[in-house]
Amino acid sequence: MTTITLPGLIDVHTHLRVPGGEHKEDFASGTAAALAGGVTMILGMPNTNPPLTTPDVLAATRRQAQADIRCDVGLYAGASPADIAYLPALAEQATALKIYLNDTFGKLRVEDLPTLMACFQTWPRHKPIAVHAEKQSVAVSIGLAAVYNRPVHIVHVSRREEIELIADAKVQGLPVTCEVAPHHLFMDQTDAARLGPLGDMRPILGTPDDVAALWEHLNSTVDCIATDHAPHTLAEKHSATPPPGVSGLETSLPLMLTAVADNRLSLSRLIELMHTNPRRIFGLPEQPDTQVEVEMTPTVIRNENLFTKCGWTPFDGREVAGRVARVVLRGAVAFENGRVLAQPGNGRLLT
Ligand code: DOR
Ligand code: ZN
Repeated sequence: MTTITLPGLIDVHTHLRVPGGEHKEDFASGTAAALAGGVTMILGMPNTNPPLTTPDVLAATRRQAQADIRCDVGLYAGASPADIAYLPALAEQATALKIYLNDTFGKLRVEDLPTLMACFQTWPRHKPIAVHAEKQSVAVSIGLAAVYNRPVHIVHVSRREEIELIADAKVQGLPVTCEVAPHHLFMDQTDAARLGPLGDMRPILGTPDDVAALWEHLNSTVDCIATDHAPHTLAEKHSATPPPGVSGLETSLPLMLTAVADNRLSLSRLIELMHTNPRRIFGLPEQPDTQVEVEMTPTVIRNENLFTKCGWTPFDGREVAGRVARVVLRGAVAFENGRVLAQPGNGRLLT
């Protein structure tokens, strides 16, 4: 059995559910799941309840995070038409701005052009902007990057035409980057039909041809692998109105290691996608004396081994090629032998 040492992985797309969704996940459980998945730094999304669109809510959420996080965390501010005047004040506390252009969980949305323009005009140039953009919204996002000549990061790209448009934008030298989620690489609409609400997320799973396109672009156009870890309870998922989203922090690296074992991806490219590029794109700090030790051994993903509070994954029962054996964060063992050792408060909140 081979042991591999990786740098601490960075996930720029995690839903930690604080405030308002603590029954799904909280800072202590979500950062435990991160460490169990080899992830030592995460960026938390703003579609909470209330959303992270005002300085007061963001400040209170940061105080809660500071007390509870076991790995390092930065938070996104959310763009909202009603709170757009707060953007400069939000920027002082947030790592990046998130703009939701398409339908997803929660009410946070930007659907009018004046708000979109205000985001690009007033959010500080040195701070990243990430967009949830599907279909034509990808073109809108690329257009904004061109007009305002500033970087735009497109989250969870899932369709052939979207990744091909982004590839064309990059050929033109436009400042666009993108991420892909493992569930869009390892599942398609057949899995959505099999899993029902447990296979429903936004964007929904694609066709086999969409999946093939993402793999074709994994060594070129794709900048990051990001989990879109979006926990909801099984009771919510089996309700009459199931919310979209699946957990991902603990399955992302094992799935990508399977791609390495299958010669679909090199280990150095995995490190670029899950550490180097996220760090560069979001201007994130280095974590000294931090590493992830992985054992390349056949392992079956099991719900009962998860640390996420929701307690389930659509990959339950799937065999993967590797498992996280040990995680060291700033010289201290944070995860070992299936146990999370890092305590709430061990993590650093990014400024
Ligand atoms: O499936 C999803 N769920 N996609 C998103 O973009 C949001 C997320 C959530 O917050 O549950
Ligand atoms: Zn998301």
